[in-house]
Amino acid sequence: METKIFKPNQVEAAAALLRAGQLVSFPTETVYGLGADATNEAAVKQVYAAKGRPSDNPLIVTVTGPAMVEQYAQPLSTKAQALMKAFWPGSLTLILNLQPNALSQAVTGGLKTAAFRNPANQTTLNLIQAAGVPLVGPSANTSGKPSPTLAEHVYHDLKGKIAGIVDDGPAQVGVESTILDLTADVPTILRPGAVTEADLEPVIGQVRSNHHKVGKTEVPKAPGMKYKHYAPDAQVYIVDHETDWDAAFKWAQAQDYSIGVMALDNVLAAHQLPTNVEAYSLGQDLSSASHRLFAGLRHFDPESSVKGILTQGFADDGLGSAYMNRLNKSAGQVHFDPTQA
Ligand code: TXA
Ligand code: MG
Repeated sequence: METKIFKPNQVEAAAALLRAGQLVSFPTETVYGLGADATNEAAVKQVYAAKGRPSDNPLIVTVTGPAMVEQYAQPLSTKAQALMKAFWPGSLTLILNLQPNALSQAVTGGLKTAAFRNPANQTTLNLIQAAGVPLVGPSANTSGKPSPTLAEHVYHDLKGKIAGIVDDGPAQVGVESTILDLTADVPTILRPGAVTEADLEPVIGQVRSNHHKVGKTEVPKAPGMKYKHYAPDAQVYIVDHETDWDAAFKWAQAQDYSIGVMALDNVLAAHQLPTNVEAYSLGQDLSSASHRLFAGLRHFDPESSVKGILTQGFADDGLGSAYMNRLNKSAGQVHFDPTQA
């Protein structure tokens, strides 16, 4: 199958493919999604095949706004309405109870709930409008690989497997949306993203987080969180403190193979880089680091010869929670230990 690349002004042609049951990747402000008509079970099943995704992992339903949600979900609670008003369109996905048989099991994984997302990308809102149906929208990567923040990443993973990609340049946020479960007694963050607990609480009161403590034996509430994720072939080591970089570069220099380094500009500028180190800048702050994290992991994988990747850690707070959640998964919780260097 030829994978066509569409410009933002070509969404009509892309929507025609979606209406015909084909798969088209779409841009969002977080990461690129893999779209299919959420009301077409055969089309939705192809999404799992294209991604190599386990079929018990439910999909996000991507909508133009609250009115589209109301066609499938139970009547919206006051909290749901307040959140949509405050954060939609934007990087907040809401888990809501469904009307009976509103969406196929291929979308929900058999759950009575679904995840609804209204992305802040006008091209994609136009695309859904033109398709006339909500789109399932998992991240458009091969399962287990870093989520795509550029159309090129999608093409790399899915070329020949999907009908098209709508290219709208780099995704701005770079980490996937916050997932908030509104079906729990207390609204619970299942996956941290750019919309933080501190953003949510003024709007709906108390919010819980369950993503800090996903242990090996625990069954994660967002089914996708249990799978290995974002992992390049080389081992990723988290460098927790800026003061650990002296030791980290010394350790890198002592290895007889190449080491990748992903760090902020000030860290890179403050050190003489050993000749076996290949640097990838995370920019100037946490926000640019989140924007570049997945692209950096892809940069070192798998064509690159590096055998280890030292990556800068941040405090597990606010956007830092989203960043560290992804980085911990890609590193398998492995941290650089400066006392071993
Ligand atoms: O930013 C994003 O959310 C991106 C863009 C493309 O919209 N999409 C995305 O989708 O990250 P995906 O499929 O890669 O991640 C969705 C997560 C999975 O971990 C899945 O298990 C969880 O949402 N999920 C979906 N439906 C759920 C439900 N009913 N209850 C709990 N978790 C659910
Ligand atoms: Mg994903």
